[in-house]
Formats: sequence, structure tokens, C-alpha cells
Amino acid sequence: MSLGLPSFPVTLLRQWREEDLEAFTEMNADPEVMRFFPRVLTAEESRVSLQRLREGIDQRGWGLWAVQVEGELAGFTGLAEPRFIAPFTPCVEIGWRLRRAFWGRGIAHAAALQAMNHAFDVLRLEELVSFTAAGNDRSRKLMERLGFTRDPQEDFLHPSLPEGHPLRLHVLYRKRRKEWVVETSTARESERLMERGLQSAASRAQSRER
Ligand SMILES: CC(C)(COP(=O)(O)OP(=O)(O)OC[C@H]1O[C@@H](n2cnc3c(N)ncnc32)[C@H](O)[C@@H]1OP(=O)(O)O)[C@@H](O)C(=O)NCCC(=O)NCCS
Repeated sequence: MSLGLPSFPVTLLRQWREEDLEAFTEMNADPEVMRFFPRVLTAEESRVSLQRLREGIDQRGWGLWAVQVEGELAGFTGLAEPRFIAPFTPCVEIGWRLRRAFWGRGIAHAAALQAMNHAFDVLRLEELVSFTAAGNDRSRKLMERLGFTRDPQEDFLHPSLPEGHPLRLHVLYRKRRKEWVVETSTARESERLMERGLQSAASRAQSRER
């Protein structure tokens, strides 16, 4: 029986597997997916990248995880330490990239919540950052929906891109652990209240039936 509630695709973060390579390579070669990166990746670059992602998770226990939906590789989401130097580094960033067929379904959002849970509740990080090219509205919308906030004074020119490059201007968003703690405890409290409300409605209905 359908209760008329919205249904969410089950989104799993997991370690990478050899069989992910084909879908991963196809995603990194899609110009629309890579629109806000300097260029698409070759098959060899994707092979090396998948290997690095896997080793990173093996070594640290966390990283940019494979996102699996309905048995398929949807892309990746997770945590990384930027290798370049900027006023906000060293830090841990949250990042995402999905195959186009998996956009517009809330999958990146669901995957990011799991990654944030790991960052704040397991690793107990004080803060996460997220950044992207200024024109990447989809990614910025996701950051904002996750409660990340931007101070325009922290906008920066990406040090890996040459002067005059159209993607050089980046925006920086931050989210602090204490904000996450407040949000998740409020969500848990409203779930408890809802459960209690449902239980008392059920017991009222039962006593009416008696
Ligand atoms: C950035 C990216 C991951 C965002 O993906 P996305 O699917 O738009 O993100 P979300 O998971 O937040 O989904 C939001 C969309 O799903 C819809 N949606 C459907 N069901 C939903 C649900 N249950 N919960 C939330 N949103 C839902 C929303 O309405 C929204 O739709 P819209 O695009 O029409 O506004 C994706 O566009 C991407 O991979 N881009 C290329 C790579 C990239 O640029 N990465 C970032 C570099 S920093």
C-alpha cells in the first residue's frame, strides 16, 4: 500500500571496485559533467584516479567514496584534503560528481549527508569546507541545501588554474560541526515527537474501537 510519502532512492557510499571503472571513465569523459573542471579525463587518467581513490580509503578509512544506487555506480561523494595552498588550507572538503543520469533525484544530497555524518560524528571534525567554480549553480545549490554558508570575502582564484582562465574564480562555503549537531539533534527530537504523536493517535483509535 502506498502512503503517498515521497520515495528516496537508496544511496550507498562504499569502497571502489574494479567493475566501477567503465562507468567512472564514462562519467569523467562527459563534457557536461566536467563543465566546471578544466577538461574531461582520458580513460588512463580515470584508471589512475580510481586506483588513488581506492588506496586513499584503504589507508585512512575515509575519502571520496563510490556512490551506488539501484546496483549501479552513480558517481562519487565524500571527503578529501585539498593539495593546493590557499588561505583556508589545510582543511577537509566535501565533494561530489555524479553521472548525468543520476542528477535531479536528490542522490548527491543523500550521499553528502552520509559523508557529513562521517566527518562530524565519526571523525569529529570541527569544520568542513566545499568550493567550486563560481558559475557551478548546481553544486552551489547543493551546498546551500546542506546548510553550508559562503562569505563572499573568501572567494578565491584557484591556484591550479592559469591567469585569465574562465573557471579560475571559485566560491568557498563552510559548515561547522556545532551547526550539524544542532540540526541533527533537532531532527531527532522532531522524529521522536512524531513517533510519540503517532503512538498516542493509535492508542486513541484503539480505545475508541473497544
Ligand atoms: C553537483 C551535482 C552532484 C548535483 O547533483 P543534483 O542531482 O543536482 O543534486 P541533489 O542531489 O541535491 O539533487 C537536487 C535535485 O534533485 C531534485 N530532487 C528530487 N528528489 C529529491 C529528494 N528526495 N531530495 C532532494 N532533492 C530531490 C531536486 O528538486 C533538485 O532538482 P533540480 O535540479 O531540478 O533543482 C551534479 O550536478 C554533478 O555531478 N555535477 C557535475 C560535477 C560537479 O560539478 N561537481 C562539483 C564540483 S565542485
